[in-house]
Amino acid sequence: MNRHGHFDVLARALHWLMAAMILAMLFIGAGMVVSLAWRPTLLDLHRPLGIAILLLVIVRLVNRLRSPPPPLPTDLPAIQKLAAHASHWLLYALLFAMPLIGWAMLSAGGYPIVLFSGVHLPAIAPHSAGLYALLRPAHTVLAYILFATVLAHLAAALYHGWVRRDGVLDSMLRSGAGAGHPPRDVPEAE
Ligand code: HEM
Repeated sequence: MNRHGHFDVLARALHWLMAAMILAMLFIGAGMVVSLAWRPTLLDLHRPLGIAILLLVIVRLVNRLRSPPPPLPTDLPAIQKLAAHASHWLLYALLFAMPLIGWAMLSAGGYPIVLFSGVHLPAIAPHSAGLYALLRPAHTVLAYILFATVLAHLAAALYHGWVRRDGVLDSMLRSGAGAGHPPRDVPEAE
């Protein structure tokens, strides 16, 4: 959090960069399984983008632990605070699990894990048809859960921004320096 009660610049940059990457990944993933013609091109994009998400989520988690997010408004109902915290940690868990499962699933299937032409990743799981049969559907099920969580997150952000107008959305949109909303959790002057 910066001194204006907003997310710091690195947290905001990573949030919006990763939001675009995650949405792209969900659509690229869906495109890969519905179009045979596009599958090789989309798969070539899917692997490096997924590994980039894995690296960025590590940076993001370290930054979050070093620079905690602004507190939620004190008047937000406890159930909504719980839902916010639970969904944020679920998003982190999925952003670690999805790329690792994708990587492990290709390893288990014995496929080469090509990042770019000539750059291969090592296998992270043993070559096993049984393991592949477990990980392949896990990648799909978690993708649905990720999609649903992203939609809920988007709905909550719009509820804060358009209905409650409590500065929560603003704290991720801008630095808070200059005019605008009061810092989160600080009551407005009478
Ligand atoms: C945040 C990261 C990721 C997301 C959101 C994601 C999402 C998806 C989605 C939505 C699909 C299509 C749905 C389905 O499984 O039927 C898919 C398929 C697939 N993903 Fe990922 N994925 C991610 C990371 C990775 C990584 C890092 C790899 C490999 C290194 C990978 C490998 C694959 C493969 C090979 C398929 C298609 C399998 C097939 O058609 O048989 N994914 N992914």
